[in-house]
Amino acid sequence: MNPSDKKFSAAIVNLLHNAVRFSPEKTKIILGVVEKNDAALCWVKDEGIGIPEAELEKIFDKFYQVEAHTVRRYGGMGIGLTIAEGLIEAQGGRIWAESKGEGQGTTFKVLLPI
Ligand SMILES: Nc1ncnc2c1ncn2[C@@H]1O[C@H](COP(=O)(O)OP(=O)(O)OP(=O)(O)O)[C@@H](O)[C@H]1O
Ligand SMILES: [Mg+2]
Repeated sequence: MNPSDKKFSAAIVNLLHNAVRFSPEKTKIILGVVEKNDAALCWVKDEGIGIPEAELEKIFDKFYQVEAHTVRRYGGMGIGLTIAEGLIEAQGGRIWAESKGEGQGTTFKVLLPI
């Protein structure tokens, strides 16, 4: 992958949008990257509302949102992560979410062959 690649940046921008939307004001959002063997590991870490363990894989499904539509406070369509996953997997990479649960923040990780 090429770090200036548009697909890669579109995926990361999606993760950053989510981090901003699902975090309270004045909390930290960290964007990191390290080179590991023949791959780049990137992460977007926030201190926001977190994601229950049972939802960590479902959030990549098209139109899936953790909060029910009837009580929806955050807007959006539930397609950002589906698109991000498509963009990363099209380049032979992997994307996943880690969170200790509600209120515990979330970290999205992207592993891409260089
Ligand atoms: N950083 C995050 N913290 C907590 N929950 C998140 C985070 N990112 C995503 N989610 C959960 O995953 C769901 C799916 O995310 P996705 O980006 O696909 O859709 P969206 O942000 O709701 O809408 P869209 O991206 O289409 O504007 C979100 O609705 C939210 O419930
Ligand atoms: Mg989104």
